Order: sequence, then structure tokens, then C-alpha cells
Amino acid sequence: GAPVEFDVGKMEPGEKVTIEWRGKPVWMVKRTDEMMASLGKLEAAKVLADASSEGSVQPDYCKNMHRSIKDHANILVAVGVCTHLGCSPTYRPDLAPADLGADWLGGFFCPCHGSKFDLAGRVYSSVPAPKNLDIPPHKYLSETKLLIG
Ligand code: FES
Repeated sequence: GAPVEFDVGKMEPGEKVTIEWRGKPVWMVKRTDEMMASLGKLEAAKVLADASSEGSVQPDYCKNMHRSIKDHANILVAVGVCTHLGCSPTYRPDLAPADLGADWLGGFFCPCHGSKFDLAGRVYSSVPAPKNLDIPPHKYLSETKLLIG
């Protein structure tokens, strides 16, 4: 599959966009400061199965708490395929909704068997999915132009 370009410059804070790459959905989320702060809170609360992404798939430059490129840390780029059995999780940026519990600080919810992922695609330990969402190889061609693949 060919690499795909996307301009993140027009994204709104908190917005998620889906593009297709190699036949898979790839998500970009422009995370707000509050969303970025949620990542550390969940790590501290010890609700994540692989908080440091040791057993998950991402390029080395995204092996950090935000799972993103340092100079564009707020932009999440993730493969939107559940690591359990391959459904596509739903974007749920809402805080502590009744159906997802008090430890929910926004993320992605898989309706197939209830797996939960945070806003860096890190999986909660209480759910069937074994790994964090994959982060595809990507880089910036300019300040806002992203190349995936
Ligand atoms: Fe997502 Fe099973 S496929 S929880």
C-alpha cells in the first residue's frame, strides 16, 4: 500500500478524522491539553495493561506515554482496529459516562466485547483486548502535513 498524506492543520481541538491506509482505518485525533493530561492520570491510576507500550506495536519514536511524535505530541495517529478480534472501536471523548465507568477519561470503546482504550490507544487491563492499538509508521513533511506509511 502507498503512503497516504493528510493535513492536520484544519483539525479542531478534540476532533477525530478517519482515513484509509492499506485497507485499514487510521485515526488522527487532535488531543486537547486536558486529553493529554488524562494519559498520565490513567497511568498513575494503574488501570492500563501496557502503559509503557512494551508489548504493543508502534514505531520507536512513538514509544512514549503519548504514543506520538515528540514535536507533534498532541496528534494521535492509530490504527482503528481492536487488538482483540478486529472490530473498529468507537471514539468516546466524553468523561465518566454511565456506561463506561468512573475511571473513563475519554478514549475508544469497542462495542464487540467491551474493550476500552485510552486517548493514546492504550488498553485497559480489565478487558479482553490484549494489546494497545497499533500505531502506524508516520512522519511530518511540513508543520501540518502528515505522511502515513
Ligand atoms: Fe474489540 Fe472483541 S473485537 S473487544
